[in-house]
Amino acid sequence: MKQKTVFFCTDCGNETPKWSGQCATCGSWNTLVEQPSYTKPKGGKSGGKYVGGGTSSSGSSGLSRSTPRELKDLDISKEIRFTTGFSELDRVLGGGAVVGSLCLVGGAPGIGKSTLLLQICGLMNKNTKVLYVSGEESERQIKMRAQRLGVDGGSVFILAETEISEILASAEELQPDVLIIDSIQTLYNPELTTSPGSVGQVKDCTMSLLRFSKDVGVTVFLVGHVNKEGAIAGPKVLEHMVDCVLYFEGERSLNYRILRAAKNRFGSTNEIGVFEMLDTGLSEVMNPSEMLLSGRPAMTPGTCVTCVIEGTRPLLAEIQALVTPSSASMPRRNSNGIEYNRAMMLLAVLQQRGGLRVGGCDAYINVIGGLSIDDPGADLATILALASAYKDKPLRSDIAVFGEVGLTGELRQVSQVNQRLTEIARMGFTACIMPYSSRNKLQAPDGIELIYVKNIGEAIKAAVVADIKN
Ligand code: TYD
Ligand code: MG
Repeated sequence: MKQKTVFFCTDCGNETPKWSGQCATCGSWNTLVEQPSYTKPKGGKSGGKYVGGGTSSSGSSGLSRSTPRELKDLDISKEIRFTTGFSELDRVLGGGAVVGSLCLVGGAPGIGKSTLLLQICGLMNKNTKVLYVSGEESERQIKMRAQRLGVDGGSVFILAETEISEILASAEELQPDVLIIDSIQTLYNPELTTSPGSVGQVKDCTMSLLRFSKDVGVTVFLVGHVNKEGAIAGPKVLEHMVDCVLYFEGERSLNYRILRAAKNRFGSTNEIGVFEMLDTGLSEVMNPSEMLLSGRPAMTPGTCVTCVIEGTRPLLAEIQALVTPSSASMPRRNSNGIEYNRAMMLLAVLQQRGGLRVGGCDAYINVIGGLSIDDPGADLATILALASAYKDKPLRSDIAVFGEVGLTGELRQVSQVNQRLTEIARMGFTACIMPYSSRNKLQAPDGIELIYVKNIGEAIKAAVVADIKN
């Protein structure tokens, strides 16, 4: 008999019976992959009541039927949070992990997801019972890693297993408070004909874990490898099913790692957590501004420091630019850490309103430390880094700047001015260029010179050393 197949989008997980070049749901191109369709789930073993049924609502077999209840009668005092032991992780989760939530930790292979989750096993309250399930490493490997990380948890249990019903059966028996699954791509449900890591398996196993976690009230951390476009399913297809999605990012060659929330049903998604990967595992970076500015070249053209707000926290970031005459008919442009279209807009403003002929130049923009900035307060620093690179003249080394730049080259005010100024002063800068319109309601820290500017031309005159008139 011919095996029936369906097509899944590897970006959004949408299922369709027919192949097409573009996903009808999310609009991505070339993301549909063919997978065998589900076979009927049989149920069975202990743990089996959570297993199977695909992702459709028809498969809620075995769960007690819920009845509608009035909103005012619902008791939410049970939303209890607990600390993971890493304050950076707690912050990204919105003030600690929520009991009974399902949290997906995504990231490229080797970035440090297993390390992070194994470390929290040792850092959580000793009374918290943790079950760490690994489909990637043997018990021996995990023990060796745990020893190296100094994890000596009294109530941490390790299980090397990949079959979802076995895992849930063990979890039902052990009744842990926290269940860690490393990784979702290694789990499988043998009742499906597809192989582990396929979209169908990944979604099915996540759905089983979701039912289990909501039913029993266990907190689940799920590791998901972010894949390059390919046949195995990445965390993207699971985003809509889980409560929180955290991404662990960073350059593998650098030691810094940034944890950010892409989705959080219990808090904001603006917070970031910063870690450093050491020989002894991950260590929290309490002073990220210092880390982001370390190694900054002094009196060199093409670099400018700004203060951005990431969530509730001000962070100093260094923006670098390189501008060179182009030999190509279409100048090359590249932007890392600042959204490409925003960077191109700023280049156009610099050309048209700042009077610098950057139009025929190749231009490269980079934010140091792997940070991606979407705070428009970084506009002015991008403009000044570009202007300094174009003129090949350094900026004053003692200044940091912030402000949004409009299409007429005007500077517009940004939020949380006092918080930004305090952070700038704390990191030892003695002058700040900022929008004229932000001058009200200021409580400037002592020892910092405030330079108000109305447009980018004034900013360039105030910042580029060779242009400053005494
Ligand atoms: P890992 O947590 O295994 O990554 P993931 O689970 O996301 O695939 O991290 C592996 C990398 O981290 C590996 O390149 C080695 C490095 N590492 C350290 O530098 N120090 C350590 O203490 C540990 C455990 C790992
Ligand atoms: Mg791992």
